[in-house]
Amino acid sequence: MIEEIEKISNSSIMRDNLDFKYYVSGTWEKSSSGKTITIKNPYNDEIVGTVQACSIEEANRVITVAKENLECWNELTQRERADILRKAATLMKEWANPLGYIMMKEIGKPLKSAISEINRTAELFEATAEAGLQQEGETIYGDTFKGFSKDKISMTYRVPLGVILCIGPFNYPFNLTGSKIAPALMAGNTVVVKPPSQGAISPLFFGLILEKAGLPPGVLNIITGKGSEIGDYLVQHPLVNMVSFTGSSETGKHIASVAGMKPLLLELGGKDAAIVLDAANLELTADIIVSGAFSYSGQRCTAVKRVLPMPGIADQLIELVKTKTLNLSIGNPEENATIGPLISSKQCDYVQGLVDDALEKGSTLVCGNKRQNNLMWPTLLDNVTTEMRIAWEEPFGPVLPFIRVKSAEEAIEISNKSEYGLQGMIFTENIDLAFNIAQELEVGTVQINGKSERGPDHFPFLGTKSSGLGTQGIKYSIEAMSRPKVIVLNLSEKGKLTKLCKYD
Ligand code: G3P
Repeated sequence: MIEEIEKISNSSIMRDNLDFKYYVSGTWEKSSSGKTITIKNPYNDEIVGTVQACSIEEANRVITVAKENLECWNELTQRERADILRKAATLMKEWANPLGYIMMKEIGKPLKSAISEINRTAELFEATAEAGLQQEGETIYGDTFKGFSKDKISMTYRVPLGVILCIGPFNYPFNLTGSKIAPALMAGNTVVVKPPSQGAISPLFFGLILEKAGLPPGVLNIITGKGSEIGDYLVQHPLVNMVSFTGSSETGKHIASVAGMKPLLLELGGKDAAIVLDAANLELTADIIVSGAFSYSGQRCTAVKRVLPMPGIADQLIELVKTKTLNLSIGNPEENATIGPLISSKQCDYVQGLVDDALEKGSTLVCGNKRQNNLMWPTLLDNVTTEMRIAWEEPFGPVLPFIRVKSAEEAIEISNKSEYGLQGMIFTENIDLAFNIAQELEVGTVQINGKSERGPDHFPFLGTKSSGLGTQGIKYSIEAMSRPKVIVLNLSEKGKLTKLCKYD
């Protein structure tokens, strides 16, 4: 598949066999450290490739190059920048199948979902180009405040922040890197990408794609390496003007603690709760819960991570969810099994620990609790109580706890007690009640009769508490990656027209 991309792109410069290089100043290079990181397929342990374990000196170089190219990128017009993004989108669509195949291999995502991630990113690039062209400024007279007149006029337009460090996660290595690159470029910034180690190969292709789309060298640079070795250095580098990160709350909090006064855009963990009321369409609710909880084996920050059913419908709902869960396919991502491997055996151990804790403390196993290498069977736990870890911790795996509640008030209380505040869900046909509950939930977004999810990508996406900082979504990200620049014009008496007021 890599060969297929090289054939379409007419370029084989980014690797030596399976050893992928990093991308700086428009060239593909090997790290002088001589060290690499091996990426293995989480399904069968086969080697997908190696990426460069870059050094601090190389981290300094990519940032310096990004800074040096800021001015040249800013000399281009908005329309020229938008055209580059659109061309990149066209290439992504052309290369979606082979790129999706590589991603499937490196992170174990079902092939169809991996391909659709590439196409979603293409659409995001197109929409970001459009949104960038719609940017507007603002002009205000000073006469709102006493002592000021229309002789004082502020003119506000937006300018780029500078160099944006984009750190993506393993679960959407292409899309959640692209959703940072596109608004950063459209706002006039230059970019340094640091992909996650597992999932580092797919985002390297942004180098090839954007170069082919006409991006000048040095505007986008991609450095691979161990977060523990170069992560803090990148975040703290004085030439980095903003950090956009998606990943765990733990790492997000660490970034915030070392970043100083740099603006941050953080998309972190979640513990999204589905409150199911008596008046819910249970068949539909069960379908949505199963898909929300188990797509990509629950490895999504927006996965359904708790269900809080009312007493009148709990038994029936759990039975429906069980039937649908037992129908899920489990196995090879290449064959599009819904449940595939978790990203690592360490992650499987963590998930198993949460299940064991709940069972030891008296929860009821409805189905699942089986493991084979990195494959974990979708597991439903009933009668989960707030004393169990699974009520509060984020598994990032295929485990769904049911915490039976007695009232909507209790559901709101349990939802809000979480350290996370990404999204919430309410299932009912009583929309008035749903709306009232929605207003009580301390989350970024409440979905009524739908699963928690980020898209469509022009919607605002944000988390409260440990779930994040700042708002993403196409126009929101462009805004977050730029700042207002204000010029105030102070008109003097000189040059004033002498005319009578029309009411005199
Ligand atoms: O975990 C990443 C998060 O952004 C999920 O995105 O599109 O699956 O809701 P999505």
